[in-house]
Amino acid sequence: MSTTPTPSELADRLEEEQLRELGERMIMKPAFYHLCNGEQSLGVPPNRGPMRRPLLMGDDPRLPAMPAAPTLLDFFRYRFAPQQQHLLQSARLARENGLPEKMVLACLLHDIAVVGFIRADHGYWGAQLLEPYVDEEVSWAIRMHQALRFFPDESVGYEYPETYRKIFGEDYVPDPYVVADYERARKHRWYMSARMICVNDLYSFDTSTVVELEEFEDVVGRHFRQPPEGLGNDNTPASHMWRTLIRPCNAL
Ligand SMILES: [Fe+2]
Ligand SMILES: [Fe+2]
Repeated sequence: MSTTPTPSELADRLEEEQLRELGERMIMKPAFYHLCNGEQSLGVPPNRGPMRRPLLMGDDPRLPAMPAAPTLLDFFRYRFAPQQQHLLQSARLARENGLPEKMVLACLLHDIAVVGFIRADHGYWGAQLLEPYVDEEVSWAIRMHQALRFFPDESVGYEYPETYRKIFGEDYVPDPYVVADYERARKHRWYMSARMICVNDLYSFDTSTVVELEEFEDVVGRHFRQPPEGLGNDNTPASHMWRTLIRPCNAL
């Protein structure tokens, strides 16, 4: 009986081998990843034995390649999850509601941390990612929308979201720092900008509509200070965060 593998078996073996080699290089999932699974571990597998291949310190072959000088739109295309429709739909709604362009940008970017980086405290992370590149009012509004989401404002028809009752429970009470930020924001001259993010956020979840990123290329071009050397290469206080998005599983 012939033992010659078929082309498809050979292809399977090759794939298996590549995955195995990749696995050896991909050891270091971030400690944070393990914390999210309820484990306090650095993620170093037991009995790994002598290192046969270097750990990953470069482009991650599992992820789409990024250009050498990535733009904000490249991050939308190659890194942000399919949930970016929520951002695109929010931005479209903001535009239809006649908000100024920089607020359309704020709505486009308000949950950038959720779709690309981290959910917890996403308004704060998102603002930090964006601060060097957008108008101060935009990043402030993005930071504060997180706190304001929990508090109604009848003057603009914003109610406590029904979904929050379902997902956080009827008796959920925001943390004291959220309440404190809300109270500070309430007195701030840009309060209504953060509030407008909430207003355009609330009604924009629509799975039947697909909004194209290109619809906002002009707004991004006018209001996002794209560094010519690319996000991550530009030596700002947020550059390391963009680099982490490009190569999230580097060993160090
Ligand atoms: Fe949000
Ligand atoms: Fe949102």
